[in-house]
Amino acid sequence: MYRTHTCGELRTGDTGKEVILCGWIQISRDLGGMTFIDLRDRYGITQLVFNMETNPGLCTQARKLGREFVVQARGTVRERSNKNLKIPTGEIEIDVAQLLVLNPSELPPFTIEEDTDGGDELRMKYRYLDLRRPSVRDNMILRHRMAREVRNYMDSAGFIEIETPFLIRSTPEGARDFIVPSRMQPGSFYALPQSPQTLKQLLMVSGFDRYFQIVRCFRDEDLRADRQPEFTQIDCEMSFVTRDDILDTFEGLIRHLFKSVKGIEFSEPFRRMTYDEAMESYGTDKPDLRFGMEIRDLTAIVKGHGFPLFDNSEYIGAVNIPGCSGFSRKQLDELTDFVRRPQSGAPGLVWLKYGTDGTLRSSADKFYSAEDLMLWVEKMQSHRGDLVLLLFGDRDKILPALSGLRLEMGSRLNLRKKDVFMPLWVVDFPLFEWDEEEKRFYAMHHPFTSPIPGDIQLMETDPSAVKADAYDLVINGVETGGGSVRIHDASLQKLMFKTLGFTEEEVTEQFGFITEAFRYGAPPHGGIAFGFDRLVALFGGQDSIRDFIAFPKNNSGRDVMLDTPAPVSEIQLKELMIETGRKKQGRE
Ligand code: AMO
Repeated sequence: MYRTHTCGELRTGDTGKEVILCGWIQISRDLGGMTFIDLRDRYGITQLVFNMETNPGLCTQARKLGREFVVQARGTVRERSNKNLKIPTGEIEIDVAQLLVLNPSELPPFTIEEDTDGGDELRMKYRYLDLRRPSVRDNMILRHRMAREVRNYMDSAGFIEIETPFLIRSTPEGARDFIVPSRMQPGSFYALPQSPQTLKQLLMVSGFDRYFQIVRCFRDEDLRADRQPEFTQIDCEMSFVTRDDILDTFEGLIRHLFKSVKGIEFSEPFRRMTYDEAMESYGTDKPDLRFGMEIRDLTAIVKGHGFPLFDNSEYIGAVNIPGCSGFSRKQLDELTDFVRRPQSGAPGLVWLKYGTDGTLRSSADKFYSAEDLMLWVEKMQSHRGDLVLLLFGDRDKILPALSGLRLEMGSRLNLRKKDVFMPLWVVDFPLFEWDEEEKRFYAMHHPFTSPIPGDIQLMETDPSAVKADAYDLVINGVETGGGSVRIHDASLQKLMFKTLGFTEEEVTEQFGFITEAFRYGAPPHGGIAFGFDRLVALFGGQDSIRDFIAFPKNNSGRDVMLDTPAPVSEIQLKELMIETGRKKQGRE
């Protein structure tokens, strides 16, 4: 038997037991007559003790062991005189009688402790060592527990998990595809799925009326903290359902996850907010509801007072920052710089301080009387001691800028707490997005998304006004899931493709497999996909999904551990009949 217990298991109740533990040496401390070793495995850390007086041979052997050696220790559990109450096993130690080195280790490139000296890049290169650190290890365990709870819930709700292929045709979604060359059909390519969207719809045609899959998706897009080129979805589809059936079912899933994994129960149904309301009040389609500071439109009351910056603006919106009327000139200048950053794009900032003594001071008070400013305060529902920040310009630029400012102030005032969760459904997205450069409409979600029934007649006359029967689940400002009711009616699908500017030939060429399938009895259906990595990171209280993926890519899409993407051999390229610039250069 290699071990009788794990390194996280023993307590004072086990005192006197003869045990065998296996693990990695985290640290060894030599205190003259005694040597202490912290032995680590996936479950925790247990202290091993060696006594120079009672067992000098063994103690000398122990002193020679380095960090990350893999050892087996046999000994007796005893209560510690010097207890460490910070760890669950901190009240006991093992008085070691026998020690076996199972494998020595080279000195690791960084210390494998919670407060490591290893930088990001180094830890990514040696990711398998970084995974030994408790926080990263715990993230993997959290991920596993959440996947298990997803399967429990979905199974109990009658869903079955069906795998779909990874080598497919390009799917009609927003990002670029990763493509895979075919050896057997030179010059032809598979695409890796951006999601199993069309395949799950085909499964509905097959009659699997409740499908789900925890599935890897691939998108060649620019990366951010919450975006990886390969990521995991909880992908779901249902037949014979309305939008509300879908939202209820998946609100159930999210509630189940919160309850079973975090012990959190929500007393109210998740709030539902239209896309228009989200944009107007939060400047984004993913509002963070952990704090207020909603955006208010002040255009009507501030324009026409001779203040050129406002008079020449299409839109003037503001947020009320509670308790910040004491902001200094320097702080306000900093905020002005913040809103002027290129990614924010506001031309400037106007402020109004509502002093604790009731006085009103503004950077624009040359143009406004005290009564005028009082109107601003009323509209903003400000209290004494608050600060109002106004941005002005084009509505479609200023709303996102106000959203950024709102989030920044929320963070500075510590209102975006990691242990508070505010889920909501955002519904009624626009069906189409207009691309000014290409002068054409794109599907905001994908071309199989149904318009809301009342808007179908607008599709030919005013496409930009048509709302989609689409919804996102947003938690704390993170888009954690999105889906829609699908089109199952052939004539509506035809109209959709027409509005998107596809010719009949293009439809047949790109979507023929699915339009054909829909001729054989497609049931009414709809679904959703959740970003599993994002959900896990959110539960783990972090913004970046990277540390919730065992072997992630860096921000340039590289796996620095595998050192890939990397060139392949000339033989491989030849088999695929692929010529690269590298080869050409070589020939020249
Ligand atoms: P969508 O494209 O909105 O919908 O994706 C669903 C969810 O997947 C997550 N997500 C990502 N997570 C990490 N890295 C990425 N690069 C990434 N891209 C997306 C987000 C998002 O909400 N087929 C449709 C779903 C449907 O209609 O049923 C789809 O894929 O959390």
